[in-house]
Amino acid sequence: MTTATRLRAALMDRIIENGGLTEPEWIGAARAVPREMFARSFFLALPGTVPTRYRPVREGEPGWLEAVYSDGTLITQLDGRLRPDDVTGEVTGSPSSSSTLPSLVLSMWQRLRAEAGHRVLEIGTGTGYSTALGAHRFGDSSLTSIEYDPVVGGAAATALKEAGSAPRLIIGDGLRGDPDGGPYDRLIATCSVRYVPLPWLHQVRPGGKILLTLSGWSYAHALALLDVTGPGEATGRFLPGTTSFMIARPHDRPPRPALALLPGDERPSRIDPAKLDDWTGGWVAQLAAPSAERLGAGAEQVLWDVSTGSQARTARAPGGGWTVVQRGPVRLWDRVERAVQRWQAAGEPHQEAFGLTVSAAGQRVWLGSEAGPGWNLPI
Ligand SMILES: C[S@@+](CC[C@H](N)C(=O)[O-])C[C@H]1O[C@@H](n2cnc3c(N)ncnc32)[C@H](O)[C@@H]1O
Repeated sequence: MTTATRLRAALMDRIIENGGLTEPEWIGAARAVPREMFARSFFLALPGTVPTRYRPVREGEPGWLEAVYSDGTLITQLDGRLRPDDVTGEVTGSPSSSSTLPSLVLSMWQRLRAEAGHRVLEIGTGTGYSTALGAHRFGDSSLTSIEYDPVVGGAAATALKEAGSAPRLIIGDGLRGDPDGGPYDRLIATCSVRYVPLPWLHQVRPGGKILLTLSGWSYAHALALLDVTGPGEATGRFLPGTTSFMIARPHDRPPRPALALLPGDERPSRIDPAKLDDWTGGWVAQLAAPSAERLGAGAEQVLWDVSTGSQARTARAPGGGWTVVQRGPVRLWDRVERAVQRWQAAGEPHQEAFGLTVSAAGQRVWLGSEAGPGWNLPI
């Protein structure tokens, strides 16, 4: 047994023990697919650095194989261009491609509830590791995977070939789906989206399923499993846990200048701003003000909508409680406050209490039931 095979078996045993890998077919795939072939080099974050600094790690270096078989995400590209093989020293940047942590990849595949014979579309090939797992489980001819970045997609194609896997690979914008390849039974996205791209709802057949992570410009995320109910229509609920994925490149927020806090109208805040640091509280705020980016934390939150110049910022009030200063045409804190109060009135449930319905009328996230309070996604 090679060191890689031994480390892989040990990692999968740990994931099984923690309840993250239960289905025999996926256990077989997880034990067979060599992650080391999809992560020959990556960036490791240096703990405690702000902004985060990364050092490149390459095949054969001390710690390389141990990191490959840790249950961690391995960053393989920064800022949409920088690869580990391009640098020698430490670097900073924003992760733009990675091999997602194996336990999450495997739980996503299991949650998709795809069966043998299904045609599956994956968005976000990345390193190709999740693609290789899917191809092992369903067979090459059942799986198509789309990657936006040609360099990333090229490296994944090479790795898949070396690993003996040959699914259909496309370089392009996965938000457009695969117009020539449908209909699909399942769609799984390993990059997140601000709203459900309409082509997906036409390329997955009615009765099919879509597993996606909703995200936004305030960096909040929520995993949802949708049933496609008709052409262009779907409904489903958000799932337990705290899943996040990097945002699909065309859905990323526009570039912005450095933050300058400007004067505005001040009043007391009706909610504790720190509620936005809660996993679901921050997501509810993002639903209410989808054009805003959230900066700050705790009592001192900052919401900034660059397209309208609207800002809101909170602070602790000297006599107790909190204040908010708002300026611009969109009263960001008014919206966030109302949404958070509705969530609080429902007992501050986790995202599992929410659902999403997509129809010709729009895309609406609701709380409790379709008749409950809701927020339209920014399509
Ligand atoms: C988290 S990584 C994918 C992880 C991958 N499934 C794995 O296991 O290695 C997300 C990937 O989505 C890609 N991506 C971003 N926007 C995309 C889009 N519009 N269409 C297709 N891929 C996209 C990124 O370039 C990145 O490689």
